[in-house]
Amino acid sequence: MIIAVDGPAGGGKSTVAKILAKKLGFLYIDTGAMYRALTRKALDQRVAIGDETAMTALAQKTAIELIPNPDGPITVLLDGKDVSLAIREPAVTQHVSDVAKIKGVRQVMLILQRKLGAEHDCIMDGRDIGTTVFPQAQKKFFIDATFDERVNRRFKDLINLNIKGVSREEVAADLKNRDTIDSTRECAPLRKAEDAVYIDTTTLSIDQVVETMLRTIR
Ligand code: DC
Repeated sequence: MIIAVDGPAGGGKSTVAKILAKKLGFLYIDTGAMYRALTRKALDQRVAIGDETAMTALAQKTAIELIPNPDGPITVLLDGKDVSLAIREPAVTQHVSDVAKIKGVRQVMLILQRKLGAEHDCIMDGRDIGTTVFPQAQKKFFIDATFDERVNRRFKDLINLNIKGVSREEVAADLKNRDTIDSTRECAPLRKAEDAVYIDTTTLSIDQVVETMLRTIR
């Protein structure tokens, strides 16, 4: 069974998807982490992100693995190396949407994501899971919040990750930029699937969102 959880950055989807996966005994798959891992590699190897051919070739020769941890964040392996923290750094966040808009890159990720979905019961979080990766998913959610609330959450995330030197204004500018790129790109843009359940989490607690989702699933 596939549960698709889509929505913009900071809406809260990864937090609730992780909890839900644990409750249901499903595998949690953070597809954003895959795009982030490739972005990390491009930055480290100085591959021009604007060069679609080079980026597609890079994606084709990159191994990305997501290793679940029962009580913590997933471990992300890039060509066998743990990049779980390195993919959350501001430089990656700043460039990841430009990587994720490349059609050839998305095709590589799509194959990987569909393979994982075929092998496991999973909750997959991303932008295009319900519309493109698994349009036949049994349950779909679109998790959203107001722009201000999403900025607050992303800012808190950085503090929790001990990433210093990024102002709230910079977080807001980055989020706005990513919202625009993610929702206007040609290939699999961020969009609510017609049959997805829309949840605005702005004023809801994590427990309330999880409860709503569980009720819908059951
Ligand atoms: O969820 P996140 O912020 O870690 O995602 C990072 C970027 O990856 C985000 O800007 C959009 C992109 N992304 C995507 O295009 N498709 C997905 N299924 C997941 C993420």
